Amino acid sequence: MSSESSPTLDPTLFAEGPARDARFTVAARWVECANFPNGHPLRAIEFLHRQMNEEIDSLECSAANLRDFPEAAWDVRLSLARQCADEARHAAMFRHLFEQRGGHVGQYPVLNFQYRIVAHIRSLVGRLAIQNRSFEAGGLDAIAHGIEQARQEGDECLRELFEAQRADEISHVRFANEWINAATRQNPRSVLEIGSALAAASKAFRQVMGSEGTEGVSYPADDAARREAGFTDTEVGLAIQLQSRPAGR
Ligand SMILES: [Fe+2]
Ligand SMILES: [Fe+2]
Repeated sequence: MSSESSPTLDPTLFAEGPARDARFTVAARWVECANFPNGHPLRAIEFLHRQMNEEIDSLECSAANLRDFPEAAWDVRLSLARQCADEARHAAMFRHLFEQRGGHVGQYPVLNFQYRIVAHIRSLVGRLAIQNRSFEAGGLDAIAHGIEQARQEGDECLRELFEAQRADEISHVRFANEWINAATRQNPRSVLEIGSALAAASKAFRQVMGSEGTEGVSYPADDAARREAGFTDTEVGLAIQLQSRPAGR
């Protein structure tokens, strides 16, 4: 059953959680998840389950964008529809590998923070700034790290999965970057909408993750992927600078 309402979460910062069937235990905060330490034998398999659910969250965010902004331009709606298909494929890939390695769906608690933060934002430009341009751009850095680690461990299945995912995620970040840049040129109010979305999302993210969920969790910026995804040299430089700072700052 869901434990998504938590006395430590401010309900004004979050949308209702997405539906999950009875197999799932839904956690509200990172500390309620199965956070196995480095080197623990279950750490790798739990990651596959967690990531499977996060891909579903990405699918649900993109689908909610189609539902909530029917008046948006056709090209961005087409990109969002393609994103739904990609995220569904990613969830299926993670599920397949998870089950192949002995896991069963619902084995570990899941966290729907991504959907609950993104679906709470009122503007499409704000949602894309958070989901695609922040969460998924950060995901590019994590995937690059995952590819390297899988290569070192000789885990070809996982390396191939990450390579395929990386190609799709670059396209999600890129269409969002292009659309956000056009939106802010056409309508200066978009800048304010992005600012308020960023402020609310970072507050909500801190509540979900706590200091425990973010300390030491930082990957070097994947500058090649970020450039391919439409970030400028200055933005890539800033990402590298931020991520090379000690955690917690
Ligand atoms: Fe994905
Ligand atoms: Fe994505």
